[in-house]
Amino acid sequence: MDGVTPTETFDLLIRGARVVTGSDVRWLDVAVSGGRVARLLEPGAEAVADTTITARGRYLLPGLIDSHVHFRTPGLTHKEDWAHGSRAAVAGGVTTVIDMPNTQPPLFDPSDAHDKHAEIAGTSLVDYRFHAGVDPSGLRRLEGFTPREATSAKAFLAGHHTAPNVLRDAGALEELFRRGADSGLRLLFHAEDSEVFELLDQWHGAPGSYRDYERLRPRSGGVVAVAKLIELVRGYGTPIHVLHVSSREEADLLSAARAAGLPVSFEVTAHHLSFTAEDTRRMGARIRLSPAIRDRTDQDRLWAAVIDGEASCMGSDHAPHELSDKVRSPEDAPPGLPGVQELFPALLTGLRRRLPEWGTDELLRVAVRLLGTGPAGLFGLERKGRIEPGADADLVVLDPEANWMLEDEGVRSRCGWSAYQGWTFTGRVERTIRAGRTVFHRDQGEAAWFGEPDGVWLGEAGAKESPVGSGTASLVGSERR
Ligand code: NCD
Ligand code: ZN
Repeated sequence: MDGVTPTETFDLLIRGARVVTGSDVRWLDVAVSGGRVARLLEPGAEAVADTTITARGRYLLPGLIDSHVHFRTPGLTHKEDWAHGSRAAVAGGVTTVIDMPNTQPPLFDPSDAHDKHAEIAGTSLVDYRFHAGVDPSGLRRLEGFTPREATSAKAFLAGHHTAPNVLRDAGALEELFRRGADSGLRLLFHAEDSEVFELLDQWHGAPGSYRDYERLRPRSGGVVAVAKLIELVRGYGTPIHVLHVSSREEADLLSAARAAGLPVSFEVTAHHLSFTAEDTRRMGARIRLSPAIRDRTDQDRLWAAVIDGEASCMGSDHAPHELSDKVRSPEDAPPGLPGVQELFPALLTGLRRRLPEWGTDELLRVAVRLLGTGPAGLFGLERKGRIEPGADADLVVLDPEANWMLEDEGVRSRCGWSAYQGWTFTGRVERTIRAGRTVFHRDQGEAAWFGEPDGVWLGEAGAKESPVGSGTASLVGSERR
């Protein structure tokens, strides 16, 4: 908290909001200059700004980080593209995404990251980074990555339509752990075991109806893969992050491994918190996912993991497919659904239902841990995920009490549908600000205004930009974790 001389002028002042800083929840006025948070002021403190936003009755949150999106660029832009995907993101309060490598071609080489950035530049409302992909037949390709291109690499241990590059070989997996230990890349896993599924397919045949899908892509796939990974972490000491944990057994194993001092972390998705097998029976292909949606007891366990802090972050696993693709026969229908727009509203709505005795301050503290400070810490995004002097001025104005439904015309993803259609959410994003400028503002109903698509590739920004004023470290820096 600083005093301020009346002559000091800021670019932007946000007055009157209850602010979730990342470490605290307080009444504050927030002053922004040069795209960064300049000062946190006592409410009503004397200050002058070019633009003042009054946000009484509202919460102000740090711009949220979604560390797991598939914006489908390059090669699959008929499913999603950066223009639509980033609109969906800012409409849901997300200002930073980390995009997955299973594109066409996949992101296997550092040069692929530069090509991808060239394709995206000028179309993104959000800042972005990329996860590198693990090429099962070319692990050496990971050697060329510097933190500018990626600080993390994702391997698929089971695959499907949009995930054809599967690391099946046990020797190669060991090799990955050996390399991972000294490459400095954090290893991310789609942790389902392809051998388990192949065995089941030989025995039963592939899923013939959506009801069979959970039975033939069961929890055993995830449990076997997670158990193998934990043994490898024990052997090699390489840190891992397990994506989209879907079952109670995986959550238990990973939490136990962490409690035993092993360097493991995990993510939970909004759809595994929001849907259960009963919904699959009703909604069929729409919520066909990899890993599958599981039972109520799994959902309860995953909620405990996000509320108690066992999960380090949440991701949307925003993985759009056209509805016409999704409703093909179960063997043909690709798993995945859009979710970056729904991620935060679904989390907040679910938290309220689960914890009716908790106040909004406490609920938003949990949300900002999972979508702000948590992923920022995991992925080296030092200037993101919190509101403090020197941080990027990525900010979200939230109406905490608004009840609303996601209608068709409000869906921003290129695929044009949402699994949450018909849901009533509580808590609505009114305005999203990135680098001190509004990128999303909701008018009446579904009408919305979007800003300039000048989001930056954070690798590049980290390498090029000198910090503005504050003397904080560059965003990505040269260190690897
Ligand atoms: C993802 C996709 O479509 O790219 N699908 C999904 O169901 N999660 C890929 C994946 O993570 O399996
Ligand atoms: Zn996955």
